[in-house]
This record gives sequence, structure tokens and C-alpha cells, in this order.
Amino acid sequence: MARKVFVLNGPNLNSLGKREPGIYGGKTLSDIETDCRTLGNELGFEIDFRQTNHEGVLVDWLQEAGDKAVGVAINPGAYSHTSIALHDAIRSIDIPVVELHLSNIHAREAFRHVSMVSPVVAGVILGFGPNSYDLALRALADICEN
Ligand code: DQA
Repeated sequence: MARKVFVLNGPNLNSLGKREPGIYGGKTLSDIETDCRTLGNELGFEIDFRQTNHEGVLVDWLQEAGDKAVGVAINPGAYSHTSIALHDAIRSIDIPVVELHLSNIHAREAFRHVSMVSPVVAGVILGFGPNSYDLALRALADICEN
């Protein structure tokens, strides 16, 4: 049976494609989901792909992933910069979590330079546009092999 991986997306990522395409690229979240499923097949992962605009829902999904999945790739969106709740949720689960961002948050506004979740994830991938999802899944595959 394929190992389950949750790919979690935070606020405003449902608007990808029309949201600041110069920063985030032209792909929709649905395009990215399709790419994740294709790559997931190759890597032996069953992809559970979700998006919410609500912080607490991300907490619920992280806890659920802790029970059901071998790993999580998460783009927490703006909650990356503010959420102690996400930090705590990631700390509370025993599976690897990879944080990802489409944009290079360090090359943008100062308020994006700090991520509350980075200290508690296995690693961070950022700045490669939609390809950041691909790289995050490959990183998880690597971690799960070792
Ligand atoms: C983002 C970067 C965040 O700063 C921003 O709030 C987002 C998207 C990214 O993928 O580049 O919503 O996480």
C-alpha cells in the first residue's frame, strides 16, 4: 500500500493563478495538485492534498497527519510568519514535516523573513515557484528512505 503524505496549503493559496502571478507564477492550486499526484505516484506516495484559509483547520490536519501519514509538505502561507499554534502542532507530531514556499520569502518584505514553523520542521524549500512542491515531495521521499 502506498504511504500517505499530506500536502497542506494555507490561506490565499486557493487564489493561485490569479493572485500576484509575477510572484507566485501562473499555475492554479489545482494544477499543482495534479503535479503532486503524478510525482507522488512515482515516489510511492498517496497524496492527500488540501487547502484552507483557517489556521485551526491546519492544526487539525497536522494532528490528523500525525496519525495517518508518513510525512507532510506544508505551505502555511502567511501563517508561517505568525502562528505559534502551527509551530506547536508540528512539534507535537512524530513524522517529518517539510515547509515550502513558492516565493523566496527572504528576498521580500521584512515581515516575511521570519517563519515561526522553520525551527520545528525537517527542512525548508523556498523560491522555486510551483516546483517547490515537487522538491518538497522529493525531500520527504529521501527522508522516509533513511
Ligand atoms: C508564501 C509566502 C508567504 O509570505 C505568503 O503569505 C503566502 C505564500 C509562498 O508560498 O511564497 O501566502 O507562503
